[in-house]
Amino acid sequence: MSILSFDNVSYQYPSEDFDIIDRLSFSVEPGSFHCIIGISGCGKSTIFRMTNGLLKPKAGNISVNGSPITGQNHYCGYMPQKDMLFPWRTIGENLALPLEIQRRYTKSEQRELIDAALADVGLDGCRDKRPDELSGGMRQRAAFARTMLTGSDLLLLDEPFSALDFLTRISMQEWLLDQWQRHKKTILFITHDVEEAVFLSSSVLVVEKTPIHTLREIPVPMDYPRTRQDLTRPDIVELREQLVDMLRKQVTE
Ligand SMILES: Nc1ncnc2c1ncn2[C@@H]1O[C@H](COP(=O)(O)OP(=O)(O)O)[C@@H](O)[C@H]1O
Ligand SMILES: [Mg+2]
Repeated sequence: MSILSFDNVSYQYPSEDFDIIDRLSFSVEPGSFHCIIGISGCGKSTIFRMTNGLLKPKAGNISVNGSPITGQNHYCGYMPQKDMLFPWRTIGENLALPLEIQRRYTKSEQRELIDAALADVGLDGCRDKRPDELSGGMRQRAAFARTMLTGSDLLLLDEPFSALDFLTRISMQEWLLDQWQRHKKTILFITHDVEEAVFLSSSVLVVEKTPIHTLREIPVPMDYPRTRQDLTRPDIVELREQLVDMLRKQVTE
């Protein structure tokens, strides 16, 4: 069964006179890693905002694990582009948020889960720091740890690394693949960086046109674990150029 499926989903922003998402259908298999690429403003984040329930589709159905999302709670973890850590809360208090919302854990259980999550992302010892005491990469790892603490199998990551410098970004990509493989999550990841999409994805979902009616699935023929060296393979270089062409065509049309 698909972990996520869109069935003829449409969405129109109230201030617009057209459907930015137009009868979109697609599905995602459990355990996969897909990047969604498309030019800026084409509607990628809108797909996430409907998946997490922030926006309600005008028509169509969205299901997670075979059931409609309306009526389900905590079925996905969402990480927006800005890390959205509350500056006045410590890192530990920020990570406590999804646990407080779930109302399932005692204070001491929360503390154990938070310490384990911080250790897992290499931030042991940062629990009592405030977000502005961490580097950009560390803040994104903390935000990711918070997303993991939602306990959901489906993670929606919206351009999480786009504000990071190049070297931090590529080490975060390797780090994320390692997290994904160890925790067996399903990840949907929005980016406009084609190389990032190729490095991470089992297959790339390309937005070729706005309004979004389909996502074109392009498989990436590389095994995991991957190294950056794999990106220099001639077939992978060609794939990357093919994706760049698909996006560029949209800009010039
Ligand atoms: N709240 C809103 N009201 C009206 N239009 C919006 C709103 N949010 C986004 N849009 C428009 O919808 C389009 C898609 O937005 P978005 O999904 O954020 O694009 P992407 O993530 O692909 O860059 C954009 O052209 C944007 O201007
Ligand atoms: Mg966006």
